[in-house]
Amino acid sequence: MATWVITGANRGLGLEFAKQLIAEGHTIIAGVRNPETMGFHHEQMIVYQLDVASTTSVETFAKNVKSSVSSIDVLVNNAGRMDGRWQSLEEVDPDLSLEVLNVNTIGPLRVSQALWPLLQGEKPTKVANISSLMGSIDDCMSGRSYAYRTSKTGLNMITKILAVEGQPDNITVTSYHPGWAKTDMGGERAPVPASVSVQGLIGLIQEQTADRSGRFFEYTGEELPW
Ligand SMILES: NC(=O)c1ccc[n+]([C@@H]2O[C@H](COP(=O)([O-])OP(=O)(O)OC[C@H]3O[C@@H](n4cnc5c(N)ncnc54)[C@H](OP(=O)(O)O)[C@@H]3O)[C@@H](O)[C@H]2O)c1
Repeated sequence: MATWVITGANRGLGLEFAKQLIAEGHTIIAGVRNPETMGFHHEQMIVYQLDVASTTSVETFAKNVKSSVSSIDVLVNNAGRMDGRWQSLEEVDPDLSLEVLNVNTIGPLRVSQALWPLLQGEKPTKVANISSLMGSIDDCMSGRSYAYRTSKTGLNMITKILAVEGQPDNITVTSYHPGWAKTDMGGERAPVPASVSVQGLIGLIQEQTADRSGRFFEYTGEELPW
């Protein structure tokens, strides 16, 4: 059984990750912005405060994780936020855009940096970055959503850079699109149940070997263009 760190594990896809992995017998370290909002508790799960937008919070989180385990097998950078969605050039708010980039792009970089020593070692370990098809430059047909799209494009570049840096340590790093999934972010009209999306993602992450590092996949297993 493996030790998985999941960011943003109190609701949506993050909570679904925690529940499905616990059912498989894994140990979960949940990073949650407001731990009092964590309605689900289990003896296989430890919950620590984590705001991925704050370097101080990420450093404290990493210290807490290191006090609990000597290594981790998988880091899932799942925490993310919207930007108001479909904002045109006229509507886009530059200050809000910086906050979105801080959470969605720099957040996963901060957490990866802080937990990297726990991923390093002989055995293969993994970072799974939960990105979005909206970050695909090739797929940007409908425009708009400057901040969210750019934040996920940036995250995809961080995936690629970390994948190169992780090679000597057997750390693989891959970006995933969870589909349009039914969560607070995805909304009621989303066609993919969160459970189906996460089941697909877990299967792919479990098969994440060196040949898949530095690449971008949908929860179905289809490879996506950058
Ligand atoms: N649902 C979709 O259709 C869809 C599609 C493509 C990509 N994604 C990506 O999938 C991931 C999960 O999305 P979701 O649908 O589960 O969204 P969600 O239901 O809105 O949940 C977002 C999670 O991220 C956490 N979070 C936000 N800002 C944070 C911060 N600064 N520090 C720590 N945690 C923070 C939230 O915590 P709080 O409760 O404290 O706010 C919450 O746990 C995101 O990266 C999203 O961009 C989702």
